[in-house]
Parts: sequence; C-alpha cells; structure tokens
Amino acid sequence: MTTAPTLARTRAELEVALRPVPRSVVMTMGALHEGHLSLVRAARSRGEQVVVTIFVNPLQFGPSEDLDRYPRDLTGDLAQLTGPGLLGPGDVVFAPEPAEVYPDGDPVVRVSAGAIGEVYEGAVRPGHLDGVLTVVLKLMHLTRPDVALFGRKDVQQLVAVSRMVRDLDLGLSVVPVPTVRDEDGLALSSRNAYLTEDQRPAALGLSRALAAGERAAAEGADPATVRAVAQETLIAAGVLADYVALVDPLTFADLPEDDRPQSGSVSVLAVAGRVGDTRLIDNTDVRWA
Ligand code: PAF
Repeated sequence: MTTAPTLARTRAELEVALRPVPRSVVMTMGALHEGHLSLVRAARSRGEQVVVTIFVNPLQFGPSEDLDRYPRDLTGDLAQLTGPGLLGPGDVVFAPEPAEVYPDGDPVVRVSAGAIGEVYEGAVRPGHLDGVLTVVLKLMHLTRPDVALFGRKDVQQLVAVSRMVRDLDLGLSVVPVPTVRDEDGLALSSRNAYLTEDQRPAALGLSRALAAGERAAAEGADPATVRAVAQETLIAAGVLADYVALVDPLTFADLPEDDRPQSGSVSVLAVAGRVGDTRLIDNTDVRWA
C-alpha cells in the first residue's frame, strides 16, 4: 500500500484526485523548508484532505527579479512532504507547469490588490501582489478548498489574500500560521539559501529591528519613534533597508506618526531590505503600552 500523496501535474489529474471531503490547501512555490511544513501540519489538523500546490508563479516576479534563479527541487519537496503529521495517501501535491496554469499565456484579466498592492512590497515590487492574488484565486478555483493557510511571514500577502476572499465572497476561510524562525531569530525563507555565512549577522538585523521596535512600543514610544528605532537597527546591522512599515493589521494603512494607538491594541511592524544580493522580509505584531 502506498503511503505517498497523489502527485497531480495537470488540471485533469487534480480533478480526479480531489475527494468530496473538507479540504485545506497550502500554496507554495516549492523549495520547501520547515516554515512550509508547519503550514502543512496546521492544514492536516483542519481538513480531511490536504492539497499542497507547488508552482513558481511567473506573474509575481518583476523583470529584474529572480524567477530563473528561484530554487526548484520537486523530488526533494515531495520527500519532505511525506511523513507523520504531513501528507499521506488521499492527499494531493499539485505541481503544474506554467502552461497548465496559464494555458492562454499571460492572463488578460487579473486581480488587483488595490491600495494594499501599491505600498511597501507593492511599491518595491510593482505588480507583485496583483500577480500573487491572480494565481491564488486561480489555485483556489482549481483546488476548491474550505480552508487556505498562509504564513504570517508574508504579512502583506496575507492581508491582501484575506481581503480578496472577503471582497470577492470566495466562501472559504483564510487561516494565518505563525512564522517559523531559526534559533538565532532569522525567519525561515527559501531565499535564506542565497546567504553566505558572512552575511548571516547582517540578515539577523531584520529580526533585531523588529524586537527593538516591539520593545519601544511596549515602553510607551509613539509610532514615529518605533519606526526610527527599527530603521536604525537595520542600518547598524548593514541591511540596505527598503522600508520600515508600521501599519494597521487589516488594511496595511500607515499609522499616524505621533498619535499613539490605544493601549493594548496591536499593529504590524514589517521590514524589508537587502543583504548582498538577497532580499529579505520579516514582521511582528506590536502591542502598544
Ligand atoms: O507565498 C508564496 O509562496 C506565493 O506568493 C504563493 C502564495 C504560493 C503564490 O504564488
């Protein structure tokens, strides 16, 4: 008896593999690490059938981004996905080629992330979140889940997907899953594979900047100070900062500079920057004193 999930490479194979039971989906671009596996474990406890999609979506990469160099290892990914608490018989890995997802070439009609897609990640990577939402919507239609799980690490993506599901009445639940970190605090990411040993201390600047911002907010600082403290920590670590965002967790709108939010309320502090050629992002919840 096989213990492996079904591998579907085409829409037709996927259709055959989907069973009429509650289903949860985890969408990935492969190069799986413990962060993805934590999503799969969380999916396991929510759906009778779990579908993991593995697809490097060209639509969400800009012309100067790392689409060709993005790590691809389907055999390694499949090996990681099989095991206790992960995928078994009856589950599905959907790993299509681009022509299977976009049979008519680049889609003419796309999803717009609206205002959420124009700031921070959206400003640094124009069109990125529109590309993400377009493929997420297609994969939701193809896999028809009751629950879709997304990591908190890509918090702006999580906010945009949650908003799309509400705004377009997609009729499924989006479940956020906490970021998994290495012991030293670095958030797990497929892009960490590009970092050299020498670059690791600088990369830790991101999680340190978040910790510094969180501390400042807990000690009574205002938003301007929290942003400044995080920015200074990034610069001191040698990170070429793209942004420090201190935003509302539901809309991704900026908090006013000197207006301290209500005590006990929670905002999102998100940072992004480059270490060498590698672009890293991270975020945390900030609770106000
Ligand atoms: O987070 C990712 O890996 C991607 O943006 C996603 C959600 C799989 C869409 O391609």
